[in-house]
Amino acid sequence: MKIAIASDHAGYKLKEYLKKVLEKEGYEVVDLGTHSSESVDYPDYAAKLAKLVSKNLVERGILICGTGIGMSIAANKFPGVRAAVCWSEETAALSRRHNDANILCLGGRVLKLEEAAKILKIWLSTEFDGGRHSRRIQKIKKIEEELYKSRLLTSF
Ligand code: RB5
Repeated sequence: MKIAIASDHAGYKLKEYLKKVLEKEGYEVVDLGTHSSESVDYPDYAAKLAKLVSKNLVERGILICGTGIGMSIAANKFPGVRAAVCWSEETAALSRRHNDANILCLGGRVLKLEEAAKILKIWLSTEFDGGRHSRRIQKIKKIEEELYKSRLLTSF
């Protein structure tokens, strides 16, 4: 599976750690930066990664900032993106089972490295439940389609 990963300065250390975890597990990892702890703006990195997921150029994405929140707000502007902030193994599993999340957002300032690695592994190995949850995902898709049709949003 091809996975993209990106962070801002607050998530840099955790990104480097999780990149190694992913490579060790045999995933093909696309690192979109940032490449140091120098201050940058999280929306720039969320956009780079969310575009790839939105266009189906990678199957999944991992975004890391201080809390995961800014990254998720920015990434969810892109059609087809379902970015979820997860802070425990349970929220990670449910974001896959119920929401079919395709981007995992993590907080480098609020999670320990090992804790984040456990969350990531659960998130990658949990399948979408489908069933009634598919109907809800379809409703989200319909909202996007209507926004694009009404030109409140335009394609990027
Ligand atoms: C950067 O200081 C911080 O605001 C950012 O990493 C993120 O947590 C925003 O949601």
